[in-house]
Amino acid sequence: MQAVSRTYVTTPIYYVNAEPHLGHAYTTIIGDAITRWSRLNGNPTKFLTGTDEHGLKIQQAAEAAGVTPQAFTDKIAPKFAAAWDKLNIANDDFIRTTERRHKDAVAELLQRCYEAGDIELDTFAGKYCVACEEYYSDDELVSVSGVVGEGELCPIHQRPVEYFEEENYFFRLSRFQDLLLDWYAKHPNAMTPEHRGNEALGLIRSGLRDFSISRTSLEWGIPLPWDPKHVTYVWFDALTNYLAAVGFGSSGADAAEYTDWWPPTHLIGKDIVRQHCVYWPAMLMSAGVELPKRWAIGGWLLVGGEKISKTSGNVVNPLDLIDDVGLDGFRYYVLAETPYGSDGDFTYEGLVGRYNSDLANNLGNLAARIATVVTKKCGGVGTAPDPDSPLAPAAAIAFTNSAACWDEIQPSRALEATWGLIRATNSHLEQNEPWKAEPGPDVDRVMGDALEALRIVAILCSPAIPETAQAVWERIGMTGRVEEQRLPGAVAWGVYPAGNEVTKGGPLFPRIKL
Ligand code: MSP
Repeated sequence: MQAVSRTYVTTPIYYVNAEPHLGHAYTTIIGDAITRWSRLNGNPTKFLTGTDEHGLKIQQAAEAAGVTPQAFTDKIAPKFAAAWDKLNIANDDFIRTTERRHKDAVAELLQRCYEAGDIELDTFAGKYCVACEEYYSDDELVSVSGVVGEGELCPIHQRPVEYFEEENYFFRLSRFQDLLLDWYAKHPNAMTPEHRGNEALGLIRSGLRDFSISRTSLEWGIPLPWDPKHVTYVWFDALTNYLAAVGFGSSGADAAEYTDWWPPTHLIGKDIVRQHCVYWPAMLMSAGVELPKRWAIGGWLLVGGEKISKTSGNVVNPLDLIDDVGLDGFRYYVLAETPYGSDGDFTYEGLVGRYNSDLANNLGNLAARIATVVTKKCGGVGTAPDPDSPLAPAAAIAFTNSAACWDEIQPSRALEATWGLIRATNSHLEQNEPWKAEPGPDVDRVMGDALEALRIVAILCSPAIPETAQAVWERIGMTGRVEEQRLPGAVAWGVYPAGNEVTKGGPLFPRIKL
């Protein structure tokens, strides 16, 4: 039996200056699948996502739209919640940084760091990218032709930076270099995949500069508790959402939740490693808060070789893709196509290709074949599997390997392992050709094995494609909800009972012509 462990998983909170796009859907679907896997294991699980609503970027977007920042964010934030609903995201909470609970948590964290002596007043002058909400030094800026250290453009957005000079409070990050390196040395697996973790360690080793955490020029933010002319700089504000959602800084009953759920596993994109893996742990150390359990760092889903963004004009609305390949077709593609941590290139041909090969030809075909043969040769009634079936070891391997990969936050490999069982079952059917045989014990045995394999597949693929998994579950006559099954018992070979009614239904994944 695996030990039960509380699991708290977060996505980045998304800026509301843009509407939800494929890049946002990417991390959110990964988070949804890994938390569904965690729940299948019986772990108490909390999955958090939300929206990042303060800062200059939002203030400017609201001004451009001719509305107050609050009215602006009130309009966009629900679009994120609605998109996640459509993508069947089972988040337990949705946090907005304009909520009271968030403001209370930010005030508490600021106050703690201030009292620890790690926040101090200073004058700051520098070049700032509004899109990143980050200052850059000259050696980080790039030229129009992309040369680093020789231009005036932000290295991420290739947009001109602005010169800012103001009195700011600073977080004394420079004090934390050794403490962070020591901590990461003691927690070598905290950042995954390893190559992304090494990038973060490189940032720390290259020397840490204090960073500004407040503005007097900005109105749209949370005031510093001890000096309310200043509002908090967006990253100090945004990062604290992870604490706010579990009641940190609350004097109410939800304060206890904090100790139940903390520390979290953060899913982040490679562009926000500095803030999450360098600033954030230092802030937590300063405030005396335990550091996160884990950072799982993803690459980008590129469109036409570029990161999806409003400025690149290559925004893909995930909801449009669902119209073509269905909800689970889209979720499957996002999870299966790219190893988490690497960049992936989104193409429509890739989406349809994967749908046709893995879903229509493999899973869909297996489910249809089984239902057809059981209907024709077994009177529509399922038979029990053979305890010594050659598929039993294939099922055990699929479970062991997919479990290891889900635990490593590698959904593409977890699904590859699950699809191994689908392929083994299809080959088993092809070898035995029950559709050619006379009804009788031989056909019953082959079909009992295939039904049992399909039952196990339904459970193993349910974190990725929950609606399809439930449909398969019902077609093979199982009752209740597939997500209520518990591992590892539910995937033990031999659970499928004789006598279930098996129904055919329409194709799960009709083939799509490009
Ligand atoms: N608001 C900040 C995060 C604060 S978290 C305390 C932010 N927001 S964002 O909306 O710009 O991006 C959020 C995350 O989405 C980032 O991790 C980013 O990598 C991810 N993605 C945005 N576009 C993406 C792709 N095209 N591909 C994959 N993920 C990308 O940063």
